[in-house]
Amino acid sequence: MTAEELAAIHGRAMVVPPAWSAETIQGFLEYPGAILATSQDGFALGRVTLDEGELLTLAVAPKAQRQGQARRCLQEFERLARAFGAVRLFLEVAATNEAARALYAQAGFREDGVRKGYYRGTAGDAIDAIVMSKTLIPA
Ligand SMILES: CC(C)(COP(=O)(O)OP(=O)(O)OC[C@H]1O[C@@H](n2cnc3c(N)ncnc32)[C@H](O)[C@@H]1OP(=O)(O)O)[C@@H](O)C(=O)NCCC(=O)NCCS
Repeated sequence: MTAEELAAIHGRAMVVPPAWSAETIQGFLEYPGAILATSQDGFALGRVTLDEGELLTLAVAPKAQRQGQARRCLQEFERLARAFGAVRLFLEVAATNEAARALYAQAGFREDGVRKGYYRGTAGDAIDAIVMSKTLIPA
């Protein structure tokens, strides 16, 4: 998928934090250690630095949600992260994002802590970020 196609999915799916432009996504894709896992209507984007993987974003177009696409993107993302040498994965998710928190918990991520007021809601309200991590089983 091109950065424009990824941005179109992001634009339809994201609320908090807000969607990224194609330019922003292209910049992340050019990071050393960048990892992109895609499904038909979704993607997971992150990077590996030394033995740590970070999931930067994950989105599935609204019309294709609840079909297992995010779960499959996450599984592929984990496989790629392990191949790049990651032994642990980290992510941040808005405390109000019940769907994503349920997805990550089901995938084996544990909640490590809270960043108070890390995000801004659409009304400018402060929303906490939950920091989650998962230890990867060696390939
Ligand atoms: C979160 C998101 C990526 C899930 O994508 P999805 O393809 O619908 O998720 P899946 O179908 O793979 O669901 C896997 C599991 O996640 C959980 N889940 C997904 N959507 C959920 C919802 N709306 N409510 C509760 N749990 C949900 C469930 O545990 C689900 O398993 P189940 O279907 O067996 O119950 C999608 O809702 C999305 O793009 N949201 C907007 C963007 C976003 O918030 N991204 C995360 C940023 S950190």
